[in-house]
Amino acid sequence: MNNDNSHQDSNANAANLEAANNEQALSPKAPYLEAFTNVVESRRSVRRFTDTPISDDVLRDCLRLAMLAPNSSNLQPWEFYVINTPKKRAKANKICMNQNGARTANRLIAVVARTDTWRDNAKQNIRKFPDGAAPKKVRDYYERIVPLDFLRGPAGIISIAKWGMTKAVRQFKGPVKSPYYTYEDIKNWAMYNTALAAENLILALRAHGFDSCAMGGFDEPALKKLLKLGNHHHVVMMIGAGERADNGIYHSQFRFDYDQFVKEV
Ligand SMILES: Cc1cc2nc3c(=O)[nH]c(=O)nc-3n(C[C@H](O)[C@H](O)[C@H](O)COP(=O)(O)O)c2cc1C
Repeated sequence: MNNDNSHQDSNANAANLEAANNEQALSPKAPYLEAFTNVVESRRSVRRFTDTPISDDVLRDCLRLAMLAPNSSNLQPWEFYVINTPKKRAKANKICMNQNGARTANRLIAVVARTDTWRDNAKQNIRKFPDGAAPKKVRDYYERIVPLDFLRGPAGIISIAKWGMTKAVRQFKGPVKSPYYTYEDIKNWAMYNTALAAENLILALRAHGFDSCAMGGFDEPALKKLLKLGNHHHVVMMIGAGERADNGIYHSQFRFDYDQFVKEV
């Protein structure tokens, strides 16, 4: 298995080695740091894969790890569609514009956000609460606060009331988290939660010695038709996965300056 061709040039190798030494000095008692750094640094977007399969068991473990991602109120608004049937797969490749990251992938997965599962999943949080019955505080949270956060009412009537209430609380009491006023708010909520699970999946694949390509380049309406998804399903990204081919990476990894993105305030 070809695991190390992300470290393509000697400059990158030297920089990574120096960074690893620094990390060790910064956090000498961090037991997972080295493994974590290796997983993150060796991950690349791979566009060509070999024929080596990802077993069902490995994929299952990667998806299990994906679903350990942090998520708002443990409402888990995600779904993963593993496209296995050859006919569907051929169509899905085409829907992903036949790009190499999809076409050559051993596995192709649609990562989907759901805007309509929050109510059932709130109930599940009560029913499946670990270590005995859910305490009253937890029940209150899922029975009262969560619905208030999400409900919009006919013609947005509840949203208007929430907007007024939130404004008043902010003015007279202090900071308050904005509830969701519009369907777009809820869609954003579901999408960003699901994107965290997608990243877990990508890193889990890498930790298992495989690679992936996250893809936004697909025809969403066509994919939704293929997978028989409804109005409350939103495809966050496609993930092609498999073993990295020798020519699977197109160029060295690079990012812009740290200071462009990090603001100390
Ligand atoms: C949401 C998202 C959509 C992406 N869409 C595509 C895509 O359609 N096709 C593709 O080849 N790569 C796609 N990529 C991969 C990016 O091009 C890649 O992550 C970026 O260039 C940085 O390279 P690296 O992942 O190897 O560090 C996507 C990545 C993300 C996170």
